[in-house]
Amino acid sequence: MSSETSLRPTIFDESPQQQTPDALMLYGFWYRALPSDRVHRNQLVPAMLLETPLVIGRDPQGRPFALLDACPHRGMPLSCGRFDGAQVECSYHGWRFNAHSGQCTAIPSLTSDQRLRIDRIYAGNFGCEERDDFIWVYIPELSPAGAGTTRRQEAEVSAPRVPTFSDKYKLAYLTSDLPCSVDHGIIGLMDPAHGPFVHQAWWWRTRESIHEKQKAFEPIPYGFRMSAHTPSSNSAPYKLLKLYADADSITTTIDFTLPNMRWETIRAGKYWFSSLTTVTPITRSRCRIDVVAAWNLFRWLPFAPELLKFVFAKFVEQDRRTMELQSEGLKHNPHLMLIDDADRPAKWYFGLKQAWLEMRRNGGEFRHPMDGPVTLKWRS
Ligand code: FES
Ligand SMILES: [Fe+2]
Repeated sequence: MSSETSLRPTIFDESPQQQTPDALMLYGFWYRALPSDRVHRNQLVPAMLLETPLVIGRDPQGRPFALLDACPHRGMPLSCGRFDGAQVECSYHGWRFNAHSGQCTAIPSLTSDQRLRIDRIYAGNFGCEERDDFIWVYIPELSPAGAGTTRRQEAEVSAPRVPTFSDKYKLAYLTSDLPCSVDHGIIGLMDPAHGPFVHQAWWWRTRESIHEKQKAFEPIPYGFRMSAHTPSSNSAPYKLLKLYADADSITTTIDFTLPNMRWETIRAGKYWFSSLTTVTPITRSRCRIDVVAAWNLFRWLPFAPELLKFVFAKFVEQDRRTMELQSEGLKHNPHLMLIDDADRPAKWYFGLKQAWLEMRRNGGEFRHPMDGPVTLKWRS
């Protein structure tokens, strides 16, 4: 192990031979780039995703676009240039590119008798869609994406969206930078054992409320599901919810799917709450957590969204602070371990990642790390 050159520690299973693909970033997926409200019409905003510098903009009709933030001529960031509502002009030699396709439309230095086929030149450009208050960008496997003279690789599916279960609902988001690799961000998110120690609050739960739990998991395409169940009886908000919704039962489903998505759905009678949380790699050592939640609970209570946001913000801040402290410990590449059963979801995550990479390398089937449904036990 070249511990000096690597910023990332290697996570070992119980057997030290078994290395995980720590901090590898998965290409060929949609990623959340920026909250929608950070990108105004006729503006250029730089953003970084999977160590790929991007410039995100929005045309006068409100449609977003994403280009590689490096001019295909001599690399000037296009975010330093100008956008006239249709074309982006590089600030260095004035080359112009169609904002949505990246195709070159003008090279001012050319004389009338010079026959360079400028329409064959493209600025790197990416699939870009807006969903639930976020601008998503498709990061293809072939890079640089469309830079130079190739067109972009289109996504086979459209960007994910938060599931909703009625026509009217509220939507809110939260975003926070995490000073760790995407893997630590993700396994921190799915780790059940940190709850009693990190997320203490009088209105939620106390450290003394720790008790044995048993949860059913099952494989789903490119991920796993914690099957529907009545959530922890030891938390006050759930008791309240059950009372309020006058529901016989509350069901919660939590899914994780590659590359970085945690889907949570809570349903109680006609009321529902749903969220899609993503942990997005910015660089190899930095990531960002974005939570987008939709709900029809408490819709008429004016302060409810603020309350919900406050609760979520508190949790996310507790996680962020924990990871900040953890990153200190990780600086010197300590050996780490994942234990059963509490860290089994983390093991599945690494298994899923490996299976995905293998499938992409060798073709063939996706070899899911789970054989079938399994019940895990832990105390939290
Ligand atoms: S570097 Fe962009 S036009 Fe030359
Ligand atoms: Fe947490």
